Amino acid sequence: MLNPSARLVGDGVENPANAEALAEAARMFAVPCSFRDSRGLAGHLPELSTVDTAALLGGPGPLIAVDNAPGAESVYRAGPLRTAASIVVGNERRGIRPDVLRAAAKTVQIPMPGRGVNTLNVATAAAVALYYLLDAHGRRNARAPRPESHRPALLLAAPRDHVEAGSSLRSAAAFGWQSVAVDDREKVWFGTPRPVRTEARAAARSHRNPLRVVPAGDAWSPPPGGRVVVCGPDVDGPPLHRAELTGPNTVLVIPDGDGWEPGPGTGFARVALPGVAGRYRLLTGIVLAEAARQLGIRTAAVPRPPRRGLSYGSGLDLTVPPDADLVEPWELTRY
Ligand SMILES: C[S@@+](CC[C@H](N)C(=O)[O-])C[C@H]1O[C@@H](n2cnc3c(N)ncnc32)[C@H](O)[C@@H]1O
Repeated sequence: MLNPSARLVGDGVENPANAEALAEAARMFAVPCSFRDSRGLAGHLPELSTVDTAALLGGPGPLIAVDNAPGAESVYRAGPLRTAASIVVGNERRGIRPDVLRAAAKTVQIPMPGRGVNTLNVATAAAVALYYLLDAHGRRNARAPRPESHRPALLLAAPRDHVEAGSSLRSAAAFGWQSVAVDDREKVWFGTPRPVRTEARAAARSHRNPLRVVPAGDAWSPPPGGRVVVCGPDVDGPPLHRAELTGPNTVLVIPDGDGWEPGPGTGFARVALPGVAGRYRLLTGIVLAEAARQLGIRTAAVPRPPRRGLSYGSGLDLTVPPDADLVEPWELTRY
């Protein structure tokens, strides 16, 4: 059943694949989805539901702009909505148009602690915003002291699609992970040609803040004494926001579908959704947002120029597995 209290609107979204993913994000939360189509989307998607400017600005309910505009309120503190509202996300490059930002009752952002990647894919951002704006009650307070020491390791388990894997890696970088393990049994990431790669490498002027993507084979096992939490819509466990997703020696595992067999002693966290389970990038976005919220790291530190000589960071570099794939921020923002 559709949730009558909200609708999702894509403002000037231009990539048809993103528009489809956005519609899927809306179905996850059982809300209708429409588009202010200023970029010719309907030419690619004849079934597209559209709104004109008057219908967008006129409601029903207040406009909630989801964008990382200066001064925007954290989405973790903004919900849950108490009245009908239009939740608006924007164009892939330009964001939400100024008329909506001016008319919005509030603008909310998803805090991005990552260095180098500071936005999510638009459909991922919509799924995260809907999760907190429509269902934010009862959430625990964020952890404060020494949050980085509690950041869990992350394993993306058996992603089935290259773009969904890439978009999930983009989210991980934007939420502050510097290293991600991928169980690539479906062979969508390592060793496959990545069309955007050459161009992205050319565009990258420095090798600052790359994401380390480390292959985790079928025989992956948690580190000794590690706590494993498998997160997904179909697992049997406490709701995501009540599960402890962070802590030293914790590994978060996000399987794509149900083909991944958890080992003994695994914990579970359920991504409870009022609608249908959506594609992988939407699921990983919600899980990583909640883990980042629990960590309590709000903003990226301004990157300092690299120091000469051996530093803590360069000491870590020495232990990067030889088969790790270094993915540049420029490449990730294409997903
Ligand atoms: C890729 S972003 C647009 C990029 C933006 N113009 C920029 O460069 O900062 C596309 C849309 O996704 C949503 N979005 C992405 N990351 C977000 C975040 N951290 N907080 C809120 N919205 C976000 C917003 O609706 C935004 O308009």
